[in-house]
Amino acid sequence: MTFHKNPVYKRTFHVEGKSFKNAGKVSRQVKTLLQDMKFPADIVRRAAIITYEAEINICSYADRGEITLEVSPKEIIIESKDQGQGIEDIELAMREGYSTATDKIVSMGFGAGMGLSNMKHFSDSFDITSEVGKGTYLKMTIRIKNP
Ligand SMILES: Nc1ncnc2c1ncn2[C@@H]1O[C@H](COP(=O)(O)OP(=O)(O)OP(=O)(O)O)[C@@H](O)[C@H]1O
Ligand SMILES: [Mg+2]
Repeated sequence: MTFHKNPVYKRTFHVEGKSFKNAGKVSRQVKTLLQDMKFPADIVRRAAIITYEAEINICSYADRGEITLEVSPKEIIIESKDQGQGIEDIELAMREGYSTATDKIVSMGFGAGMGLSNMKHFSDSFDITSEVGKGTYLKMTIRIKNP
């Protein structure tokens, strides 16, 4: 496999906040793009899960946001940047099972409090910053091991 021949690729997707109308659309596109680039299935799966959880959090909690996919020969970087309420206590939000999901979010099948911990679990590096009343920024990297 010749991953080192992959061109550097960068694309930003808009995500509508406080709406489930298009929920999952960006992560589906990211998955298809990475499959088309011939990444191994486990890498595609990890990137798709990470993107999906970030996307659903924007749909659930933010006013608007964008997700950027960046592919280089050595890594896949997924960034999520939103404008909205932000997170007051990141350590608490990161805890498995912690959720402030409303009844509406729960009725959509979300709100188990597993999204952020899944994003961390499936990435090789995970960074989160947030400002209450402003928004949240996440950067997750998946390393590519070239054969
Ligand atoms: N982008 C965001 N903006 C504001 N708050 C957020 C954001 N992402 C997460 N949170 C807060 O952190 C909590 C935990 O998020 P996490 O994704 O781990 O779980 P969840 O979204 O509640 O449930 P799940 O992801 O399992 O469906 C959320 O309930 C919410 O309070
Ligand atoms: Mg979530």
